[in-house]
Amino acid sequence: MSHTRKKISVIGAGFVGSTCAHWAASKELGDVVLLDINEGSAKGKALDLFEASPVGGFDSMVTGTADYKDIGGSDIVIVTAGLPRKPGMSRDDLLATNAKIMKACCEGIKEFAPNSTVIVVSNPLDAMAMVAMETLGFPRERVIGMAGVLDGARFRSFIAEATGISVKDINAFVLGGHGDTMVPMPRHCSVGGVPLTEFLSKEKIEELVDRTRKGGAEIVGLLKTGSAYYAPSASAVEMAEAILKDQNRILPCAAYLQGEYGINGMFIGVLCQLGKNGLEKVIEVQLNDEEKAGLENSKQHVEELLTALKKLDY
Ligand code: LAC
Repeated sequence: MSHTRKKISVIGAGFVGSTCAHWAASKELGDVVLLDINEGSAKGKALDLFEASPVGGFDSMVTGTADYKDIGGSDIVIVTAGLPRKPGMSRDDLLATNAKIMKACCEGIKEFAPNSTVIVVSNPLDAMAMVAMETLGFPRERVIGMAGVLDGARFRSFIAEATGISVKDINAFVLGGHGDTMVPMPRHCSVGGVPLTEFLSKEKIEELVDRTRKGGAEIVGLLKTGSAYYAPSASAVEMAEAILKDQNRILPCAAYLQGEYGINGMFIGVLCQLGKNGLEKVIEVQLNDEEKAGLENSKQHVEELLTALKKLDY
């Protein structure tokens, strides 16, 4: 095995985790370790993916394990472990169960991959990122939550569908928590650099915003037995790539705020610059009154989750 390659570990070999491994390996971001308490599942999926590499033509070693020792030396750890929601559940209903799981995972990461940058994917995202940060004790540069890239991707795909224009030319992002209070930013959306409002009516944009807010639930409603995984894993891996390749991309992510937007000591979705140090910078966007109110509403929702979290014994 080459020692010059980067190392990406993925915790949780469920649909999101194994699909993260798939995207990361096929993009040759580095060698991939897939860890799950179900050792057979981690090893089986990893071996299967490795055996696809000659056909896909990617040089990434993929291994499975149940032992945290094997994530030693990871540059990036993506945490996907936790239960997904079922129809009728909100992401918040997962709080108690997933907090325990997140804490256990982060204890392993802290011990064996103390220099890694951790990307949190499990739900409810903004609260799980907080559990991760507290357990890991890492600086905020190295604990980042994945939500905005996913929500933004949903918004962008709906805009592409409505305009008939390539997804590559659609720029859009969302702020706030990963939940029904997320704040899509249509004012900052563009199609080929031209404001979205020149392509779609206000009503149509509102409709797409609403679909974006409910994007996760739309997939849960269709799948019935779990939640989305292709777009969530692609989004987590896009963040990993920006860090591993020091791309300094501007991506919406959940970051631990220290006064930005007047918010302190909690994770919420904002525009972030991601490079070799992880979170290089939080970009503060000028908000109009409506956007400010949207972010405030979202912040209150995340605060409620954090209050509920404090009452739990995890
Ligand atoms: C979603 C879940 C994974 O938005 O949060 O699909």
